[in-house]
Amino acid sequence: MPATVIVGLQWGDEGKGKATDFLAPETSVVVRYQGGDNAGHTVVLGEEVFKLHLVPSGVLSEHIVPVIGPGVVVNPATLIAELDGLAARGIDVSRVRVSHAAHVIMPYHVALDRVREGGLGRGAVGTTQRGIGPAYADRALRTGVRIEDLLDAAALRRKLERVVPEKNALLAHLGDTGQPFIVPALVETALTWGVRLRDHVADTTTLVQDALRAGQHLLFEGAQGTLLDLDHGSYPFVTSSSPVAGGACTGGGLGPLQVTEVIGIMKAYTTRVGAGPYPTELTDAIGERIASRGHEFGTTTGRRRRVGWFDAVPIRYAVDVNSVSSIILNKLDILSGLPEIPVCVAYEIDGRRVERWPASAEEVSRARPIYERFPGWPEEIHDARTPGELPPNARAYVDALEEIAGVPITVVSVGPERTQTVIRSPRSGNGPAAGEAAR
Ligand code: IMP
Repeated sequence: MPATVIVGLQWGDEGKGKATDFLAPETSVVVRYQGGDNAGHTVVLGEEVFKLHLVPSGVLSEHIVPVIGPGVVVNPATLIAELDGLAARGIDVSRVRVSHAAHVIMPYHVALDRVREGGLGRGAVGTTQRGIGPAYADRALRTGVRIEDLLDAAALRRKLERVVPEKNALLAHLGDTGQPFIVPALVETALTWGVRLRDHVADTTTLVQDALRAGQHLLFEGAQGTLLDLDHGSYPFVTSSSPVAGGACTGGGLGPLQVTEVIGIMKAYTTRVGAGPYPTELTDAIGERIASRGHEFGTTTGRRRRVGWFDAVPIRYAVDVNSVSSIILNKLDILSGLPEIPVCVAYEIDGRRVERWPASAEEVSRARPIYERFPGWPEEIHDARTPGELPPNARAYVDALEEIAGVPITVVSVGPERTQTVIRSPRSGNGPAAGEAAR
């Protein structure tokens, strides 16, 4: 019953989609456990590029059941468009399952996200404006609409009659100039979503537990990354859910002792989208070069991602808080051609050397990076498939990142294609089953 959790160790966009795709041959079920259509996964299969926001990338493998767990907030319009788009390209989407308990992002959540961010001025979080925060807030307030409500006209009407006047009042108070939301129109739209999604709705926790009992290999796929976690990131510049590995339990439907391995995904440098402190940020031509070579533009918003050097301080923290058992290192190829590559090994904060990730965003904003410099390598490395085919300086760089992380880097990605991958060593998990799965 191996259960693998895939978790981002930085600020998201670490390449989790490629990792999931890479592990697809040994996987039966892929479960997305948090976030919503703020995320974007790009998977390249030959000539085809797939950009997915909600449907787990496992949908591209015919033997995999892709599951959207109860911890996800679902914008049904996005989900339906994605299912239709995949089907139009010949992908069988009938296997996709969405939890009856997942919360729905309603149009008023999107409006609230937009107007709130607009009103925060310089204090804005830089959200994706997809309504993620307002939908999770309603979930916690117990005023949310769940996927199961889309199948029950009476329950849906009752909920919306209660909540929509509140939302209209709040929107007006926040200065929104749009038309107020009208209950019957919302009910009609939501019921149309329900009709389209009905065959995909399931009790996904039972599905997960049955699959574990049957000895299948499940993969729990996080969105965003550890440093955007509501509890463990630099609050308030975070998302509203739990991307950390623990989120796979609450949002995916398995218990902590059912997790057999946690694979951390990190890039050979860092990126961040949205506001918030970022000690190793590069605002110069080198940053531009990395962003353009690495195509660092958001899959969801198209925003140019902020770019910076690799930062060891939050990585050590992320390895601990997720109990990472092995790491996949992505985008090493993007660093080819740089004469030297600095890595931040500690911060200087108020004249003191600090090696632990500071608890508060305010403290991180005062951190000045202390760098160790590594020699670069001039050649492109897209064709390397074994560690011996990497230039010695690239190997030394990967070795240094592995030592920093304190867990094995088992796979290094040297290009977007599934095949552009260097296997360094077999994975070892938290239990014997994970080792089996790696062979
Ligand atoms: P929200 O999740 O849209 O509320 O945005 C909160 C913060 O998380 C903002 O800084 C976003 O830019 C960031 N964020 C949300 N989703 C992603 C993602 O998939 N990749 C990178 N950053 C993200």
